[in-house]
Amino acid sequence: MSWPTIPPAPDTPPCGPPVPVDGGWVVTRHADVVAVLTDPRYVVPVAPGGPPGTLTWLRGTVSRFSAPDRHPGRRALGVAALRDLDPDELCDAATRLTMQTLDRLATAGRVEVMGALARRVPLEVLAARLGLADPAAAVPAVTAVAAAYHPGADPAAVAHADRAVAALLAMSPPAPAEAAANRIGLLVQAADATAGLIGAAVRHGLAAPAALGTADLLAEVLRLDPPVRATRRVATGATRLAGREIGRDAALLLRFDAANRDPAVHPAPDRFHPVGPDQAGHSAGEAGHPALAGPSVRALTFGAGPRGCPGERHALALAAGVVEVLRARCRPAGTPVRYAPHPTLRVPTSLEVMFR
Ligand code: HEM
Repeated sequence: MSWPTIPPAPDTPPCGPPVPVDGGWVVTRHADVVAVLTDPRYVVPVAPGGPPGTLTWLRGTVSRFSAPDRHPGRRALGVAALRDLDPDELCDAATRLTMQTLDRLATAGRVEVMGALARRVPLEVLAARLGLADPAAAVPAVTAVAAAYHPGADPAAVAHADRAVAALLAMSPPAPAEAAANRIGLLVQAADATAGLIGAAVRHGLAAPAALGTADLLAEVLRLDPPVRATRRVATGATRLAGREIGRDAALLLRFDAANRDPAVHPAPDRFHPVGPDQAGHSAGEAGHPALAGPSVRALTFGAGPRGCPGERHALALAAGVVEVLRARCRPAGTPVRYAPHPTLRVPTSLEVMFR
């Protein structure tokens, strides 16, 4: 049990000035990552479109991979859909579904958290609130799309994702294509990251003192074991970053995992340091639910700037609903936690807990 210190995950680079790697740059300092995320000269690698209803169409239509001229309008579609969802209600729904699932599995004595809960509950709750006709069937479809969403997926995964996009469209409420794509985009963005957050919170926090609020647990786990470890940008012209000359078209890998341990921002970087709601700056506590009354201060795991995560409060609400129930009813099983190999995500493949 690593509490109350969480060491860096394997392969986390040290925090320092930008480092040239493979013709691009790795950016690790908190201030440098924020500078890139808020500078319009650095853009998200754009996904080309594809035949309607396919994975490449989805990638080419969601805000996440859109060029700067298309991004604001498409992001607004997702933000508008999220505005109708109340984080308190999401949290309560995730709590209920988690309790039902644990009741069903209680006789087995142990639960594999990732498959039974972390990968299922947030998506099923979100899919229902976003109006998908069959929320339970949406879960495997969204998972299949998420597995092929980022560049470099193998052809079998892409073919599977193509079928999943068609299935998700068929169960979506009627809407113009761009709105439908960005609604599905919300689910796909939510999938791995929220599952990874729940996995990290269970791994590091199941045996934490009950006095530690779940919001504080989630905030520090997001900082110290982020489910999204990095994101990418491309320089549209020659720029300078922290004294380094960044060439036109240079690729930048922005390492949230390193920046979240920047000693310039966190004097004891590896130490779990809950910040009470009173000290929280911008806070999920705006939502008013006690489980959400905590900070997300200074961790960069939800990104920053005009492309920062619009689902932060929803993610925290859904994760809190699941994690609170697990903290009350389960204890660590002590079995090793393994992770799916991925260039930027850190999501356990399996994570067992025992009933108390
Ligand atoms: C722990 C869970 C989550 C984490 C760590 C996370 C993290 C992020 C990050 C870092 C980005 C920005 C990527 C970049 O700038 O390159 C992002 C974007 C996005 N996230 Fe999340 N996210 C999470 C959950 C969610 C949820 C639950 C939703 C929806 C309900 C969501 C919807 C989105 C969308 C739509 C974008 C693209 C925004 C845009 O195109 O401007 N995320 N997320």
